[in-house]
Amino acid sequence: MYTQGLAEPPARAGAPEPVVEDAEQLRRFEARIDAEEKIEPKDWMPAAYRRTLIRQISQHAHSEIVGMLPEGNWIGRAPSLQRKLILIAKVQDEGGHGAYLYSAAETLGVSRAELIDQLLAGTAKYSSIFNYPTRSWADIGAIGWLVDGAAIMNQIPLCRCSYGPYARAMTRVCKEESFHQRQGYDIMLKLANGTPAQKRMAQDALDRWWWPSLMMFGPPDTDSQHTALSVRWKIKRFTNDELRQKFIDFTVPQARYLGLEVPDPELRWDEQGRCHRFGEIDWSEFHAVLKGDGPCNRERMLARRDAHEAGRWVREAALAHAAKHRRAAAMA
Ligand SMILES: [Fe+2]
Ligand SMILES: [Fe+2]
Repeated sequence: MYTQGLAEPPARAGAPEPVVEDAEQLRRFEARIDAEEKIEPKDWMPAAYRRTLIRQISQHAHSEIVGMLPEGNWIGRAPSLQRKLILIAKVQDEGGHGAYLYSAAETLGVSRAELIDQLLAGTAKYSSIFNYPTRSWADIGAIGWLVDGAAIMNQIPLCRCSYGPYARAMTRVCKEESFHQRQGYDIMLKLANGTPAQKRMAQDALDRWWWPSLMMFGPPDTDSQHTALSVRWKIKRFTNDELRQKFIDFTVPQARYLGLEVPDPELRWDEQGRCHRFGEIDWSEFHAVLKGDGPCNRERMLARRDAHEAGRWVREAALAHAAKHRRAAAMA
């Protein structure tokens, strides 16, 4: 979801040849995976496992950092001091999630600076959901309830991911995500039980965020070429479609409790299948947003580049300070 099971682009001309792995090493590796052992940074792993993890963890880290922007936008306009404090804490948590995840990615032999350069150059992806605008206070409720709710659905199984550093980072992240989901639902509950205008605001937010939230789980399994290998190597435990279905089944009763209507005329409970059937997702919108044509893609990247530039002196000062201490320690 924050990674959306995005497929790697097809190999370009001049790209390195795919690595042919040693059969015995691969057999031992897969036996460890089957035995539910965790793979650690210094262990042997297939090049495709390393590459998939770097792509997935870094997309996830970028999503956390870019995800701070739509909500950060409302810190100054939160309706009470208490709501403001909660929102500041939540946005700060997302920054922390980004930091753990960049660290987890670094254990695979890639540097944080390199990953951030890819984000700022527009060559790395982040979750499509953060390219939608936050127009009203109810959007902050809808993000917590739906976006963080979808994040939990995806991330709980990642706590059992076969790669140790990722699994451990996710355990901590998930604890914080459940607080995020509850604070969002609490905002929705207040608005849905408020004045008619507040209830309309909550419904409008649900109308706008419902479909983009379903897209967060990534393309349908039939179009997600990496799913099978990721499931076999226990990077993923469920496919995109399985997670999307779980999310819908979990969330529809919550919408009903709020007295709000899910904006899908085809949504119905299937008694035999014991699940909700739902309408067609507009995948052309998903692909347009991923390509950079969503409502806020340009604004988000501009904000990140500005923040990176504004922080340059802090990074330089920190490096100079560390170098000074190293020199002092060497002379002592
Ligand atoms: Fe997060
Ligand atoms: Fe969150």
